[in-house]
Amino acid sequence: MRRIAILTGGGDCPGLNAVIRAVAKTAQNDHGLEVVGIRDSYWGLLCEDFVVLANRDVSGILNQGGTILGASRVNPFEETHRLGRLASPKEDWGYVKRILKRHRIDALVTVGGDGTQRVAHRASLAGIPIVAIPKTIDNDIRETDVTFGFDSAVSLVMQSLDILHTTAMSHHRAMVVEVMGRSVGWLALYAGVAGGGDVILIPEIPYDLELVHEKVLHRNSTGKRFSIVVVAEGARARGGEATFSGDTDASGRAIFGGVGKRLADRIEESTGIESRVTVLGHLQRGGPPTAYDRLLATRFGHHAVHLLVEREFGRMVALKGAHVKSVPLEKATRKTKPVPPDHPLIQAARSLDTCLGDK
Ligand code: F6P
Repeated sequence: MRRIAILTGGGDCPGLNAVIRAVAKTAQNDHGLEVVGIRDSYWGLLCEDFVVLANRDVSGILNQGGTILGASRVNPFEETHRLGRLASPKEDWGYVKRILKRHRIDALVTVGGDGTQRVAHRASLAGIPIVAIPKTIDNDIRETDVTFGFDSAVSLVMQSLDILHTTAMSHHRAMVVEVMGRSVGWLALYAGVAGGGDVILIPEIPYDLELVHEKVLHRNSTGKRFSIVVVAEGARARGGEATFSGDTDASGRAIFGGVGKRLADRIEESTGIESRVTVLGHLQRGGPPTAYDRLLATRFGHHAVHLLVEREFGRMVALKGAHVKSVPLEKATRKTKPVPPDHPLIQAARSLDTCLGDK
């Protein structure tokens, strides 16, 4: 093995540059490998948009958010048809294999969330040497305790809740804060508890609107006179559906959006308490990585290179307790990882008198 390539796919997050840096430096310093960056994930792979990453190219990026390579949600199967490069409707990795051969790339490191890694798994089954690194602020990837990007997003949301407390208190309002996470509630739960949310609503626990109203009214009548309501973008009322914006992203997935505004309106209508909504949006994806995410991303990148050199392909690095290990990519990409109903933090939130919308 002489040359490896790395791509960063899906939604960006803090820590991506830390993992690019760790892969490039480990590959060069420990194994004398050349490292190629693939711009904009699978799109750049199909368009052969590559850049050699020498040590100097990854210097000074550890603390930078985003990804110096660019990211995209492009799925190569759809794109190759749209690009007209593949007559065959069947899944044909021959086109990609010829690109890798032409550029003397012996193996790939795919950094991304569930969408990126599901494509990586299919590429691996087609014989392309791949090691995957789990990344997402949603923390919804199985087989790893946590993904990098999650801690930075939790910190951003927590700080936002701290800030929103002062204005909610000043105006005696119910402040509804809509948080990312797609169909899981890890980010809303962790940040909601860390930020002192009075109500935390996650997709895994469909909420009873009456209970939310009662909680807000109770706080108002017992002197607190404000409430912080944290709602995951994929949360839904009992018997209801999640709220979508009506748009789809580049990979064809429906985009969540609107649950916060609807909830704020319902709370004001039923309780008479002034309510406002804050949608944190892509603030949760930006900014510098926390120390935890820099360290986790660095450990993941370092371990991924050694897996490649050992020819342990088709595997994903994973955090298990205090250790970084690897798991079959197939197991990690079967389905997303919801918050279990008996999660200790859910139990702690209930003990701290937090309303989770179900009792
Ligand atoms: O998967 C990460 C994520 O931030 C989700 O939490 C969010 O719903 C989605 O990406 C937003 O996607 P985009 O950046 O394409 O709008």
